[in-house]
Amino acid sequence: MRTAIYPGSFDPVTFGHLDIIQRASHVMDHLIVGVLNNNSKSPLFSVEERVKMLKEVTAHLPNVEVQSFGGLLVDFAVQSKASVIIRGLRAITDFEYELQMSQTNRKIAPNVDTIFFTTNLKYAYLSSSIVKEVAMFGGNIDEFVPPMIAQYVRDKFEQKQ
Ligand code: PNS
Repeated sequence: MRTAIYPGSFDPVTFGHLDIIQRASHVMDHLIVGVLNNNSKSPLFSVEERVKMLKEVTAHLPNVEVQSFGGLLVDFAVQSKASVIIRGLRAITDFEYELQMSQTNRKIAPNVDTIFFTTNLKYAYLSSSIVKEVAMFGGNIDEFVPPMIAQYVRDKFEQKQ
């Protein structure tokens, strides 16, 4: 059975992430969405909230599981018996960081390979940061995230006011 990890901060999950999750789940037997427990990045949503949101929007995908992780990604991959890390590439600007990260990961864990999915052109501009920026100033984020996530983001900014 081929297991892959799709890691990220997912603060919050966007249509771009969901597109990658859907496509990766078709080519892998088992896909674990790994949500980084990254308090140092001061995320908008707690790791528990991000895991809950991801579980809700991937509930229709039977071979997708959502888990949080801390520490090194490759340690999480080895623990989870995953031989593949999935990442999305939106534009050339992503490339340098992604290349460095995949090469470092391969140096530490030679048996874990990274596979890149090019992001659907529809979502090439999209990021969690853009979603938060637009929502913070009261803009409409319905084109960027599923309806239930848009509601969570709006609620979060209302609570913060
Ligand atoms: O969605 P993001 O924030 O771009 O995801 C980044 C992520 C989670 C893939 C990366 O920060 C990560 O793997 N962090 C875990 C720590 C680690 O293994 N670092 C070494 C990679 S060079």
